[in-house]
Amino acid sequence: MDVIITNQPEKVAADIIETFVRDNATLGLATGSTPLPTYRELIRRHEEKNLSFAQCQAFLLDEYIGLPITHEQSYYRTIRREFTSRIDIPDAKVHSPNGMALDSVAAGHDYDAAIKAAGGVDIQILGVGTDGHIAFNEPGSAFASRTRPTSLHPQTVKDNSRFFEGDEAKVPRRVLTQGLATIMEARHLVLIATGSGKKEAVAALVDGPVDTACPASVLQRHPHATVIVDEAAAALLSKK
Ligand code: GLP
Repeated sequence: MDVIITNQPEKVAADIIETFVRDNATLGLATGSTPLPTYRELIRRHEEKNLSFAQCQAFLLDEYIGLPITHEQSYYRTIRREFTSRIDIPDAKVHSPNGMALDSVAAGHDYDAAIKAAGGVDIQILGVGTDGHIAFNEPGSAFASRTRPTSLHPQTVKDNSRFFEGDEAKVPRRVLTQGLATIMEARHLVLIATGSGKKEAVAALVDGPVDTACPASVLQRHPHATVIVDEAAAALLSKK
């Protein structure tokens, strides 16, 4: 695991992602607020440096169950609003788990099959939850887990309520998420964490034991994982 401490995480992340985009890679996209500056930097490079995503495809990590894709906070809509509608990737090539499927277990299997059929994810962008979750794999998620329906931890409901007018009651409890084993199959993992709210999670995932109590710690087992953090998120790391 490579750990990069920088005051420009979005630039470091965009530099890595750009090399994959120029190779027409399959991109793994994350939602949440952390990757937004990176997406803005990539949009800038698209507009100013002719960085083209036309030959790429993209797979999202997760989706809320029961939110229609027309809902502003569905990840289907979020990724289009914040990123993919502002670059030249064809919309049909932006895939996400079907949170409205009648059978969400089957929808999970279908999603894993779609990733496989696309040749796998080349570069996966990740954020991390304050409780160490990646995608929506909450503490206790099996390292062997695949795309599946699961439930949110109360802390995540609280953290994500800011996207739902601050009202925890409006946050869906059920989600469809890529599993940890699915994520680990991506060829390069890039996890970005910024701000002091993430310092405990970053210390646990980098320095702690590989343990399902901190799902992100599984990255220690990946052959090519890069963790990009700012000073605030790095504050509790043992080696700085
Ligand atoms: C959500 C997403 C995760 C994301 C996490 C952190 O729960 N499912 O993919 O990494 O939140 O979000 P943020 O970057 O807004 O702190």
